[in-house]
Amino acid sequence: MLGLSIKDVSKIWNPGGPDPVPAVSNLTLDVAPAEFVVLLGPSGCGKSSLLYIVAGLEQPTSGTVTFDGLPITEPSPERSLIFQEASLYPWLTVKDNVTFGLKINHTAPAKREAAAQKLLKLVGLGNAGNKRPHELSGGMRQRAALARALAMRPKVMLMDEPFAALDIQTRARMQGHLLDIWESSKASILLVTHSIDEALALADRIVVFTSRPGRIKAEITLDLPRPRDLRSPEMVDYARRCEALLAEEVERAFKEQELA
Ligand SMILES: Nc1ncnc2c1ncn2[C@@H]1O[C@H](COP(=O)(O)OP(=O)(O)O)[C@@H](O)[C@H]1O
Ligand SMILES: [Mg+2]
Repeated sequence: MLGLSIKDVSKIWNPGGPDPVPAVSNLTLDVAPAEFVVLLGPSGCGKSSLLYIVAGLEQPTSGTVTFDGLPITEPSPERSLIFQEASLYPWLTVKDNVTFGLKINHTAPAKREAAAQKLLKLVGLGNAGNKRPHELSGGMRQRAALARALAMRPKVMLMDEPFAALDIQTRARMQGHLLDIWESSKASILLVTHSIDEALALADRIVVFTSRPGRIKAEITLDLPRPRDLRSPEMVDYARRCEALLAEEVERAFKEQELA
């Protein structure tokens, strides 16, 4: 099967220890090539745990994860993981950050230069290649991190609340950039957020998680053109549905905490 396939995956942190934490439970999810899936769920419900497993940084306690039919056992440039805080190397220029992976895999300098030009332009940083990360705004740093991930031509982009640290206006622009990039790269995206609006603006499919241990509570397919007007009656209906689903889970988590 092509694409990402998560089958019956459970993750327990500290298994066998005094305080085991079940993070995700019996989770099954497929992401097709070029599909944009957004995981929406309350905080602490196991979203990041699942992304680490898909990235190959952690092993599931049970279940299997495959990409294009092959088991995922370790990280690979074909599956890039992007975090909330862009982790650029502060001593390198933006351009050298973007082409870092290409240098490691011995891509010729002329090709690296061409790739950097193209990618920096794509993320709207055409004039920032010679700057250092500390000279950039948070949004620009996050775009540079995107360009760096794209340089490796990933087939899957795993994004863990990538825009959570940005102000609302920057965030909306970044979502636009991401949609452009997604369309030109044809990569699959699995993006984690707790923002309903972000999910609605971006997703082909929203997968709503339960509170911990994370399981799939609902899936909402949004077969709608982008950019989407989140204030249209149709989108407001979707937002209400997501809100109700999340509210149930937050309520449940609170009750469980009170009992514990
Ligand atoms: N490395 C770890 N070791 C132990 N527990 C962890 C680890 N990472 C996450 N957890 C726990 O697993 C649960 C799910 O965390 P996480 O996947 O980060 O949730 P989310 O990303 O949805 O907020 C939390 O209770 C968290 O404390
Ligand atoms: Mg998280």
